[in-house]
Amino acid sequence: MEALLDKLSEQHELTEEELVWFLGHLTPELKKKLYSRASEVRKQHYGVSVYSRGLIEFSSYCRRDCLYCGLRRSNSRAERYRLTEEEILDCAAEGYELGYRSFVLQSGEDIIYTEQVLTSIIREMKLRFPDAAITLSVGERSEAFYCALYNAGADRYLLRHETASRALYESLHPGMSFDNRMDCLRILREIGYQVGAGFMVGLPGQTHRHLAEDLLFVKRFQPEMIGIGPFIPHSATPLNGAAGGTVEDTLVMIAMARLMVPDALMPATTAMGTLDPSGREKALQSGANVVMPILSPLQIRSKYALYEQKICMGDEPEHCRSCLEMRIAVSGYRMEFSRGDHCRYNVQL
Ligand code: 5AD
Repeated sequence: MEALLDKLSEQHELTEEELVWFLGHLTPELKKKLYSRASEVRKQHYGVSVYSRGLIEFSSYCRRDCLYCGLRRSNSRAERYRLTEEEILDCAAEGYELGYRSFVLQSGEDIIYTEQVLTSIIREMKLRFPDAAITLSVGERSEAFYCALYNAGADRYLLRHETASRALYESLHPGMSFDNRMDCLRILREIGYQVGAGFMVGLPGQTHRHLAEDLLFVKRFQPEMIGIGPFIPHSATPLNGAAGGTVEDTLVMIAMARLMVPDALMPATTAMGTLDPSGREKALQSGANVVMPILSPLQIRSKYALYEQKICMGDEPEHCRSCLEMRIAVSGYRMEFSRGDHCRYNVQL
């Protein structure tokens, strides 16, 4: 086992069989070593910096019906909202005032936000906040759409692959295509975006082999960002009553992803903070190096419920900023307010 951990830390790879075996034989002591190896590797690439991205959740409408997600179109109990261009720009302005230089525009797959609408929002943001990076996270769209938004100034795109197992993917995403999702990721990369992939841990039916496939996928694809979080069952979805993921299993996957893709940017997700008050700090100590404080207006925040009991629902952006800055400092890291590009990108402003 120690030999496998050494191979993983030094060569940044394991075979599928080795990964499955490793995941099946982890002891508490070995997990501790795994977390500290991941932490060392993260420090080699990014030091003690933790990059911040102000998250603007601008629409809770979604045309998809993913079995795990509270925003799925069949959830008639979900309250829906849409932010106007003005409201989105106001959120970004507030974040900019607080010092953030990286924003994530995220929504359900809401096609009311057309290429024209989003292009105009991105152009305006780039005019008003020229030194800030813009990340989009609006799901599967056409190549032309992705190109237009890139040309309008979007820098990065988050599209979690959710699971690299075709069979598991298909069981959770009625009417969606695994191949199309993978194609989207490849197209985004070709266009020039810094690309984020990622997956959930603890999905119903997910085995160590599935998780090994996720690790091999990120190793192969080398995403600039990798978002890994626990699946948290939502009561108004078909997966109500499922067991869900644990903080510990997710920490193992964050640490292993860090060792497989040493220079990735990896968030300590809100879902980790939801399952455990110190879940995000634990993630930072296991290889994560990004936080994503929510900037969405307080009145609508609780309606963006991918899962329930989400944290920070009543906190003003200023409060979130100081809370996170304190948590990060106490953990021995430093919160950064720069664009926080991937270390392979040297962006000329
Ligand atoms: N629990 C945890 N994460 C979820 N996501 C969606 N629904 C849930 C849930 N119930 C994740 C998906 C999606 C990201 C925005 O949130 O991975 O890509």
